[in-house]
Amino acid sequence: MNPDLDALKPYPFEKLAALKADVTPPASLAHIPLTIGEPQHAPHAAALEALVAHQQEMARYPATHGMPELRQAIAAWASRRFGLAGLDPDAQVLPVNGTREALFAFVQAALDRSRPARVAVPNPFYQIYEGATLLAGGTPLYLDCRAEHGFRPDLDAVSADTWREVQIVFLCSPGNPTGAVTPLADFQRLIELADEFDFIIASDECYSELYLDEATPPPGLLQACAALGRHDYRRCLVFHSLSKRSNLPGLRSGFVAGDAALIAPFKRYRTYHGCAMSLPLQHASIAAWQDEQHVRANRNAYREKFAAVTETLAPVMDFPTPEASFYLWPAVPGGDDAAFTRALYAEEHVSVLPGSYMGRPAADGRNPGSGRVRLALVAELEATVEGARRLRRFIERQ
Ligand SMILES: Cc1ncc(COP(=O)(O)O)c(C=O)c1O
Repeated sequence: MNPDLDALKPYPFEKLAALKADVTPPASLAHIPLTIGEPQHAPHAAALEALVAHQQEMARYPATHGMPELRQAIAAWASRRFGLAGLDPDAQVLPVNGTREALFAFVQAALDRSRPARVAVPNPFYQIYEGATLLAGGTPLYLDCRAEHGFRPDLDAVSADTWREVQIVFLCSPGNPTGAVTPLADFQRLIELADEFDFIIASDECYSELYLDEATPPPGLLQACAALGRHDYRRCLVFHSLSKRSNLPGLRSGFVAGDAALIAPFKRYRTYHGCAMSLPLQHASIAAWQDEQHVRANRNAYREKFAAVTETLAPVMDFPTPEASFYLWPAVPGGDDAAFTRALYAEEHVSVLPGSYMGRPAADGRNPGSGRVRLALVAELEATVEGARRLRRFIERQ
């Protein structure tokens, strides 16, 4: 087997299971998991209806680049949402089976192993960026996202010599696990650096539709390009998904959009990889991208949960004011995120994810994820608020 498989790190949830393995939580309390980022709100009904209505099309092979109607629905959505002057559905859009699959596959297709192949990833981070890099024969470059810098990477802290070895930069906005939103100015600074040092920007925007202030949706990389008059989106790709936006994580549907010179070879790679989306799923996806009402309802539900949880936890925990995503990223009293997680589970039967499990130690030995936990506010309001109440009770007892 490929020896690079041995370089893959244990997934955070494997480490969490080991941490809790010998703990017996109180049987009198139902388990409240605030761990996995799997939306629990109802999936978009019209998408499910389209899936059923088109089930006979399972009898046909789908094409790698998807149906023109799907690419058009995606291009229209992205243009509306990000104020783009144009997005060519044929050359600048590619449907994919969720962002995870595409983030992984893109690195395999893009990385040139014949020269230094660093891939910059935010730290802490969604694990796929690192795994994709290691399996493609690249070397991760961890860009720490610390409180002092708004939980965003400090792009100007990277030396010119290091940038010269970078082939791909991952951004995640809104961020998992921090919820931080990348401002337009940061996107534009990174575009300048990409031009100077010739790298690709891969912007994971799968949480872009879950934001708290209806009047200020998070900006995206293509929007930053458009504001610069860069309508070919040179060196830039965005990754979007219906998983969080439309509560359809099982549909496995998303898209990649941007630079046609990157989309074309990626499509070629995918033709061989064999990952076309089946036709009923494409019809369901069209229904979802064409509707905003369910997305607003989804945001309202998260807004309500964030308000209730913030009110409960703010007196006992310190966390950045949530702007977007469905995560809260509080510092733990005492600073030991793993010990906090274990004791919370033992006493209150509430599961959270230690922040250090999502990060890697920096050169100074400090892991920028440590000292915090990630709370995923995905369950229904009552269970989520009950989890927050138990967290508070646990802290107040310490
Ligand atoms: C930052 C980030 N990117 C990508 C994904 C993958 O989502 P999907 O493949 O369902 O689009 C997730 C899922 O939790 C995530 O947190």
